Amino acid sequence: MRRLDQILANLGYCSRREARGWVANGAVTVHGEPADDFAQKVAPGEVRVDGEPLDHPDGLLLLLNKPLGLVCSHEAREGPNVYSLLPERWRRRNPIVTSVGRLDKDTSGLLLLTDQSPLVHRLTSPKHKVPKVYRATVDRDLDPELIGRFASGTLVLEGEDAPCAPAELKIVSPREAELTLIEGKYHQVRRMFAATGSIVLTLHREKFGALALGDLAPGQWRELPLDFFDSPEGGAPHQAYV
Ligand code: URA
Repeated sequence: MRRLDQILANLGYCSRREARGWVANGAVTVHGEPADDFAQKVAPGEVRVDGEPLDHPDGLLLLLNKPLGLVCSHEAREGPNVYSLLPERWRRRNPIVTSVGRLDKDTSGLLLLTDQSPLVHRLTSPKHKVPKVYRATVDRDLDPELIGRFASGTLVLEGEDAPCAPAELKIVSPREAELTLIEGKYHQVRRMFAATGSIVLTLHREKFGALALGDLAPGQWRELPLDFFDSPEGGAPHQAYV
C-alpha cells in the first residue's frame, strides 16, 4: 500500500502536485469510488485514472531488439539512448527503467529493460553466469586455433589482470563467429578479439539466457512477465546459470 499521489508520480503519470489536482477534480477512483484523499494509502491495482487501470503498476520487464546508434546510458551527453524508444510515461517512472547490463552504441540485438533493480543485480551478477550469445564479424579470417584460446579461461584482456572465463567460439564462416560468454566485462567481445589480433566490425547479441529475439524488428520490444526468470521457461527452477 502506498500513497495515491506517490503511486501516480512514480508510475510517470504526473508530478505529485498534479496528482493532488487530479484527485481534487475527481479523475482518480479507488475501488470504483472517486478518491478524496491524495495521501490515502492504496494498492495500485485498485486505482483508475479517467476510468483506466494504471499502466503496469507492478513493474516492467521488456525484451528489446536494440538498434545500432543508441546508448544504454541515461546520460544525455552520451547521445541518443534506448529509452527514447519507450513511451514517455515509462521514461518518467521511478524507479527508473534501465538496461540489464549494456550493449555498446555500435552493438545491436537482445537487451532487457526493467525497473526491477533486484532483477538487474541478479542477471548481471558474475555468480549467476547467464550465457549470452553474440554474433560478430571481424576484419580477417578466423583461425580455428581461437576456439581453444577462448575456451581455455586464460585469455587476458588489455588492462586487466584476471583472465576471461572460458567462452565458446563457433566459427560460422571465415570472418563470422558466434561467441557465448558467461560474464560481461566492458566491451568484452571486441576486446577478446582485439587480444587475438582481429577487429570486430559488426556485433549483435542473439540470446540472453533462455531468451532469443525471434522476429522482433530493431527498435521493437515485447513484454515479459515479471516472474519470467523464476519460471521454467526463464531458466528456473534448475538454476542452470547459478
Ligand atoms: N561486448 C562488446 O564488445 N560490446 C557489447 O555491446 C557487448 C559485449
